[in-house]
Amino acid sequence: MSKLLEKAYNTEDFRKMGHEIVDLLADYLNSAYNDENQKVLPWQNPENMLQKWESNFQKKEDFNIKNLFTDFLEDSIHIHNPKYMGHQVCPPLPISAIAELFGSLLNNGQAIYEMGPIANAMERVILEWLSAKIGYPKSAFGVLTSGGSIGNLTALLAARQSESNIDAWENGTKNQTFAIMVSEQAHYSVSRAVKIMGWGEKGIIKLPVDANFKVDISKLEEIYKKTTSENIKIIALVANVCTTATGSFDPINEIADFCEKHKIWLHADAAHGGAALFSEKHKHKLNGLHRADSIVIDFHKMMMNSALTSAVLFKIGDKSYQTFSQKASYLLKDKQAFEWHNSANRSLECTKYWMSIKPYSIIKAYGEDIFKEYVETTFNLAENFADIIMKSTDFELAVKPEANIVCFRYNPNKKQLSEIEISELNTSLRKKLTEEGKFYIVQTDLNNETWLRVTLMNPFTNIKNIEDMLDELRNIYFEYN
Ligand SMILES: Cc1ncc(COP(=O)(O)O)c(C=O)c1O
Repeated sequence: MSKLLEKAYNTEDFRKMGHEIVDLLADYLNSAYNDENQKVLPWQNPENMLQKWESNFQKKEDFNIKNLFTDFLEDSIHIHNPKYMGHQVCPPLPISAIAELFGSLLNNGQAIYEMGPIANAMERVILEWLSAKIGYPKSAFGVLTSGGSIGNLTALLAARQSESNIDAWENGTKNQTFAIMVSEQAHYSVSRAVKIMGWGEKGIIKLPVDANFKVDISKLEEIYKKTTSENIKIIALVANVCTTATGSFDPINEIADFCEKHKIWLHADAAHGGAALFSEKHKHKLNGLHRADSIVIDFHKMMMNSALTSAVLFKIGDKSYQTFSQKASYLLKDKQAFEWHNSANRSLECTKYWMSIKPYSIIKAYGEDIFKEYVETTFNLAENFADIIMKSTDFELAVKPEANIVCFRYNPNKKQLSEIEISELNTSLRKKLTEEGKFYIVQTDLNNETWLRVTLMNPFTNIKNIEDMLDELRNIYFEYN
């Protein structure tokens, strides 16, 4: 072996680097939790950031992992900081990162059993555990995917194969027009999945929502009749559990009644809200979830895993094999294609990293109550956030939160600003807040108006952080007006 390869695989170097980096990360966590002055987001113009790292990449210097990773840390967004209130990305539990490090080094690719024996078995254990929580039958099954977007595609491909009756995998759509019905509030990965399947814009039948951004059930029959009268075959309906923008839960039981009546596949996109299953207080929002034909739940959103780890579950476990009817003969013989322990036949990913190691380690370390506590802490925080907004005279609430997502906006001169002016004002306030880097919040469009949006992902966020953030928005307003 060359000297360079020998050095790169050196075990003592690995031990030393590992200790140094774990120390660095533990210090990061300490300061994120405790140091009020830490910025969440070291904002820099993207071009400056690019230049900085281009020149760093070219720089010839002695490698010092601690110095280099300290620089990485300085330019990263700090999700463990309680003033992080942005997108639906959780501050991962430290044990999730440790499990990931372990899984990465062993690098057990999961496509076939021999390459990832424990990974394939562990994936099944986690899927069975989650299926049982949902109330699915024992025969339910599924697959872990790298994210909810791939998860939605995986489920909808199976729906197409199951419901189209023409073996669309082999024959294409044979000039038939297929479509899915989906709330206008659905995550964009759903319409992307439709476009990937080649059904075009016609393949997306948008369902209107009510004032709480839930699918308007009263419109389903009428839309169904109109669509089918145009010779479009509806393959599936996708329910939001809950929506990305406002955290609204669609009424699953009513939707399931409709789907059963018309023999339509029901897919529940529970990427964000699925974890509410673990809370007695909130699980009623998911009533009827067990009736869905397929479900996606992201572990990296409300279950404190580092990205990415998602579950796709099928009520009828065998449907999991319908996603990809294709057989890769060099990997799998025909018979093997139906073996649970060779995940390649059910997964878009060939080499797939050992995802189950993270939820498995979390449950072994802390028990599943950790998910209940996380959901209840963050959902509760959102209720408190909404109360603060409702009591204020200068902020407005878009809708009462059902999850840990809150949409709100600043509107200091209630009667004097037009809708467009309020949207512009909030866009510019958020831009300045982001550039300051003390807090991180996001924004979304609801009914063509721009609203500020927080997802309270960090259990360390407290009422004072929320009040300070609102004050900071006020300060920015007064400074620039
Ligand atoms: C409801 C919903 N579904 C799917 C996704 C996509 O998940 P991922 O980012 O894991 O691909 C998201 C992401 O925000 C989401 O909110």
